[in-house]
Amino acid sequence: MSDKIQAIRGMHDILPDQTPRWQGVERAFRQVLAAYGYQEIRLPIVEKTELFKRSIGEVTDIVEKEMYTFDDRNGDSLTLRPEGTAGCLRACLEHGLLHQPSQRLWYMGPMFRHERPQKGRYRQFQQVGVEAYGMAGPDIDAELILLGRRLWKTLGIEHKLELQLNSLGTLEERLVYREKLVGYFRAHVDELDDDSRRRLETNPLRILDSKNPNLAGVMQGAPALDEYLGEESLTHFQELTRTLDDAGVAYTLNPRLVRGLDYYSRTVFEWVTTELGAQGTVCAGGRYDGLIAQLGGKASHAIGFALGVERLIDLLADPESFDGAVCPHAYFIRVGSLAERSGGLLAEQLRDALPELRLIVHCDGGSFKNQFKRADKSGAGLALILGEDEARELTVGVKNLRKAGEQATLKQSELIPYLQSLI
Ligand code: HAM
Repeated sequence: MSDKIQAIRGMHDILPDQTPRWQGVERAFRQVLAAYGYQEIRLPIVEKTELFKRSIGEVTDIVEKEMYTFDDRNGDSLTLRPEGTAGCLRACLEHGLLHQPSQRLWYMGPMFRHERPQKGRYRQFQQVGVEAYGMAGPDIDAELILLGRRLWKTLGIEHKLELQLNSLGTLEERLVYREKLVGYFRAHVDELDDDSRRRLETNPLRILDSKNPNLAGVMQGAPALDEYLGEESLTHFQELTRTLDDAGVAYTLNPRLVRGLDYYSRTVFEWVTTELGAQGTVCAGGRYDGLIAQLGGKASHAIGFALGVERLIDLLADPESFDGAVCPHAYFIRVGSLAERSGGLLAEQLRDALPELRLIVHCDGGSFKNQFKRADKSGAGLALILGEDEARELTVGVKNLRKAGEQATLKQSELIPYLQSLI
């Protein structure tokens, strides 16, 4: 016997008993995104490798270590997308969508990163991403945060998430800061760990993001980025926090929040939870004004975020509340050859008349007892029962599967109005 082939480590099947939950969450996303006028864009899963190198940055963990990159049959280097921001912007530039003064878009789909799998961290995971283009002011930054808050409220998890906020300033401001920071860490190089020493040469701001408690002392004395922000960056950030204050959004200022992708400038934020262990960032994003020109477009403004759907679903307070929506209304039991033939036709008539009806027709025969068992297991509220007698007499048995009580008999002609009153 040959071995069974298994899924790839870190890549998961979402089984039928889980999909109602996913669908419920996706419905909530769509509803909230529509409420703010965001439009869906659907993007390829594979892009040229160059796109991610140029946008996320050559010396980031994602590009250095985590991408699924391969040569296709033409010898082109392609990559399974590790995130959606780069592809979304590529599509907008390619199709001239940024000629409009502003654009609000969202996407949903799988992303791929070759990270070490653990709970909440997968190699294929699902993101919902939101991107807004063409708007310079802090009001759009605030809108994205308010949109996030509304999502959490709709899903009943707003009390589990904390908003962390920082400003990275402009590229020029960050370059000055970077030099100061490198100078400081060079003077304290003995106190750094291996990872931070390596980052000192490649991506020194990421040292600030280190989770190593032994670095707390050296971090304490490090120069702070906000002292290097110019007037405009400071005003932008102050206006954002004022708008959040007005709207009653609580946040924590986190000067260490630098993000793992290179394209950010000014506002960056993360929604974090303490309930998911090490993988506590559920949603993250920020402004990335420089990226449009970097990818060959006319300089403009951009900001967005992405949330990890697996992490969000793990956080749901009442996951079962999403599950009921797709149980079948009725399960059609048919016993005997006449019942099978006429029952199949009747089921099609019911579906013609009641497009909302969710009806499972039992196939492959079996006794009444056996079919009732299956009906019960399907989660259906109602059994429709057709034996040879009913089929001849043009009647149908009806039994509520979720309440004790007798089976009733209806004329088949009464069935449509009867079911209509139940769905
Ligand atoms: P990111 O911080 O790399 O940002 O990912 C956003 C979210 O995706 C994370 O907060 C997390 O919930 C989820 N996520 C990331 N990696 C994994 C993983 N291996 N397993 C499960 N979930 C994961 C971005 O991707 C940016 N494109 C966000 C953005 C959009 N910035 C501007 N626009």
